[in-house]
Amino acid sequence: MTARIAAIVLAGGRGARSGGDLPKQYRELNSEPIILTSLRLFLGHPQISCVQPVIHPDDRGRYTSIAGGLDLPPPVMGGSTRQDSVLAGLDALERMEPDFVLVHDSARPFATAALVDRAIAAVKASGAAIPALPVTDTVKEVDAHERVSRTIDRAALRLIQTPQAFVYGTLLNAHRRAAREGRRDFTDDAALAEWAGLTVTAFAGDADNIKLTTAEDFVRAESARAAGLDDIRTGMGFDVHAFGDGDHVMLGGVRIAHAHGLKGHSDADVVLHALVDAILGALGDGDIGAHFPPSDPQWRGASSDRFLRFAIERVKARGGIVAHLDTTIVCEAPKIGPHRDAMRARIADVAGLSLDRVAVKATTSEGLGFTGRGEGIAAYATATVRLRRTIGDVR
Ligand code: CTP
Ligand code: MG
Repeated sequence: MTARIAAIVLAGGRGARSGGDLPKQYRELNSEPIILTSLRLFLGHPQISCVQPVIHPDDRGRYTSIAGGLDLPPPVMGGSTRQDSVLAGLDALERMEPDFVLVHDSARPFATAALVDRAIAAVKASGAAIPALPVTDTVKEVDAHERVSRTIDRAALRLIQTPQAFVYGTLLNAHRRAAREGRRDFTDDAALAEWAGLTVTAFAGDADNIKLTTAEDFVRAESARAAGLDDIRTGMGFDVHAFGDGDHVMLGGVRIAHAHGLKGHSDADVVLHALVDAILGALGDGDIGAHFPPSDPQWRGASSDRFLRFAIERVKARGGIVAHLDTTIVCEAPKIGPHRDAMRARIADVAGLSLDRVAVKATTSEGLGFTGRGEGIAAYATATVRLRRTIGDVR
């Protein structure tokens, strides 16, 4: 009979050390929330029959919006320590009686199917198995004053990762005993298993399988990814809308009071329309009219935010990122200067970019042409998009 193997994906922490507004496992890397990458690794693994997520009670909404559509049991709520969260996951798996369980930190999104294969092979052979890396730096012990007290022989040292794999019943019993005896200080399951007297065996970990812990880890992971996005493209966009009746215009997603409105099928936001065409241009993916035909009544009065979001999603779907958006607005009135910062912030927000990746500029046309005569507003835009080079691209 084939073994029943379950995986617990731990996402019950707050990610305090990484900073940021979101718990780290809900932040995006590779255009995907980290927790989703981690869940998918196990969901897609042919030998894993059940994946049990453990989340923080405050994250129910976040979790559902990201993973609600996946074929997963309901998430269980974690506890105040990692150890408590693992026990909650183990308890939830009791009904399915797995033979083995793998416990994985969702904050390790670079774990691979090959690593999971090794964990499964190792636990079948030894009953308790953990991924380990040799230590390559020299290791020293220091006292409270940072004075070196000794050098430790690194040959016998290992750095330990997850997924850690155990015989399910044995780990469950060890965890329950630790809880009963008030031992709540184990930072990984192997430490708890060792305490319970189990023999734990190391197998080869993966140097890329880092736990995203600090803000610096995120910066490093992002830049490693960006280095692979070396198909750098620039797209341009241009749009014009004529003045008509109304008391405001929408520019860059910002409502600006004005003696005229702008005529158009949607909200006539020339700035966002030019930006959308610039992004689509960089992708070689048609233009705004091709994706949102003016003949289609559903776009009547539509907020142009959604067009920009759509264009950004098209970039993400290609595994890429938008590196920069730049726009120049041409009009005699309204005055753009007072609204420039708000537009920049709004565009950055809708596009999911940091503020320094968005530029908004404006000029009059010195009374010349249709903008000079006050007949309408024009906007130019460029977008810099970084994509991964695909095989066959280079000729
Ligand atoms: N974890 C958990 N329940 C907890 C604490 C941690 O499920 N009470 C999970 C985290 O979500 C993470 C993994 O255990 O996937 C490893 O923990 P760690 O890297 O320490 O994450 P956080 O506790 O979230 O981060 P921090 O310690 O910086 O707050
Ligand atoms: Mg922690």
